[in-house]
Order: sequence, then C-alpha cells, then structure tokens
Amino acid sequence: MLSNKLKALACALSFTVAGLVHAADPVTIKFAHVVADNTPKGQGALLFKKLAEERLPGKVKVEVYPNSSLFGDGKEMEALLLGDVHMLAPSLAKFEHYAKAIQIYDLPFLFDDLAAADRFQSGPQGKALLRAMEDKNITGLAYWHNGMKQLSANKPLREPKDARGLKFRVQASAVLDEQFKAVRANPRKMSFAEVYQGLQTGVVNGTENTWSNYESQKVHEVQPYMTASDHGLIDYMVITNTKFWSGLPEDVRGELETIMEEVTAEVNRQADELNQKARQTIAASGKTEIIELSPEQRAKWREAMKPVWKKFEGDIGAALIEAAQSANRS
Ligand code: LMR
Repeated sequence: MLSNKLKALACALSFTVAGLVHAADPVTIKFAHVVADNTPKGQGALLFKKLAEERLPGKVKVEVYPNSSLFGDGKEMEALLLGDVHMLAPSLAKFEHYAKAIQIYDLPFLFDDLAAADRFQSGPQGKALLRAMEDKNITGLAYWHNGMKQLSANKPLREPKDARGLKFRVQASAVLDEQFKAVRANPRKMSFAEVYQGLQTGVVNGTENTWSNYESQKVHEVQPYMTASDHGLIDYMVITNTKFWSGLPEDVRGELETIMEEVTAEVNRQADELNQKARQTIAASGKTEIIELSPEQRAKWREAMKPVWKKFEGDIGAALIEAAQSANRS
C-alpha cells in the first residue's frame, strides 16, 4: 500500500520535474528571410537576435536564416502558418493573397521618398494594415524600410519606350505585373533567389530593386545599366504566427515587442545610408552604368505607370490611396 503511494508520489514528482525542465527550456524563434546579412533587413534580423538573447537569457533563442536558406519566396508563408518558422519579413509586395489592401505599397510613384512611407506607416491606416491578416493567423509586428526601387536592364532605360518588349523579373505581385505591362514590357514572376541566374542567363532582361539588394546579390555584374528611378518602394512587414505569438509567456512577449520597437527604429534609421553606400559600391565597380533621369524623363515614367492605380483602386480602397498620397505633403 505504502509502496504504491510512494510510486505514485515519485511518478507525480518526475512529471513536475520534467515540467520544470521543460518550462526552463528557451523558446526557439526561427526568423527566416531571403536577402543577405548586409542589407537593412539582414541587419535588423541579426540585431533582433542579439537583443533578444541578451535581454532574455535562457528564455529565448533566435535562429536567423538569411538568403532563402530555410525557406524562400513561395514557401515561407505556408511554413509560418504551419509553425515551421516563427518570424518572417517579406517585402510588402508578397501579401496579396492575405490582404488585398497591402497592395497599396506596390503602386508606382505613390510615395515621394522613405520619409513619406514612414509617415503613412506610422499613421492610423498604416498601423491598421499590420493587423489586416489576423483572421488568417498572421500578425504584423512592424514595418522595416529597405528603400526606393531602381530599374536595371541589359540596355539603357531613360524613357518608358526603352522598356518595350523587355522581360522584367517581378516579385509575385499583380500590381507589379501591371506596372511593367503599362510600359509594354513583359513581366515575369520569379523568386528572389532566382534573380541573379535569371538575369545572367537571359531568362529575363531587367528587373527592379533597391541598391542594397542589387549590390548584395551582385546584380550589377550581370546588368550593364541601372536607372536611378526611385519609382516605387521595397519595405517589409515583420510578421509572426498570431497563435504562436499570443502563446508566449506575457513577460517574454512584452520584452520582445519592446525589442522589436528598438530594432525597427535602428533599421529605419540606417536603411537609406546602407542603400546609398551600396549605390557607391556599384558605381565604383565600373561594371554597370548608372543613369540619372532628368525631371522630364522621370515624369514620363510616372505618367506611363500611374494608370495602374485605377486598376487596383477597388481592391485597395480610394480612401487608403488618398491617405498615402497625403503623407507626401505632410
Ligand atoms: C525581392 O523579392 O525582390 C525583394 O523584395 C527581396 C527582399 O526581401 O528584399
């Protein structure tokens, strides 16, 4: 009788001890992304890891997977929903299947500069978009800047007519598809990991991206011309699985949110500088010619691409587009 009671006690104790050991295990957060470490997003992910592990020792471990090394475009969102990865920061072009309104960020010539994008993102409409996918179990934690997009091609692009008939790699975005159709070019959706090879082998003739993405992927080695067009934006939404995040112990989640705010401020402070440095490196390489547009030439691109806005007004909402535009004037 006594021995049975002892056995039961020992058994209960072993569960408790196992539970304690389990509770003391750090939470592992896998953070995957598709770009290099020496980019605004790459730096942001590493800073998040550093601060989280410093301030939550033994409680949180962050594993960062850059360069599509864990999941690339096309697979990463599904992996987030399955719990195989816990944080991502896809470019804002990659959410159209989850919230149509986020397509706003792809509209060409919407924001004059990063400061305007920043004003919109930190205003009520921008913040609301961070929560627009919660019914799909995706929570937006922050916006991180990369920068303004530039064009690149195997020939000089000065006016929209120069792009006619060329094949351009685009991110998986209907807006960007239409943007290139508007200048009578042929868009081709392709994952980021395939861009260099696609350009090198001539599967595509041109693309659009930021200076830091060009430089870190060595795109300037396979594109003889780049045009400083600033015609659109590449920014990110840092996202997590809603159920995973709300299941974290409250103190851990609170501290991670504080850290995310600090990291966001730092990423956004440094993004433009990183892009300008990358531009200088590209220019100094002598491998590509950087073309500056005159105000008249830039106005032609704007005029050619702007009709795309109307096509997506129904999905995005006219009021949201108006709010974003007014961020330029603030
Ligand atoms: C792209 O796919 O071109 C980029 O948006 C990749 C990235 O995350 O910057």
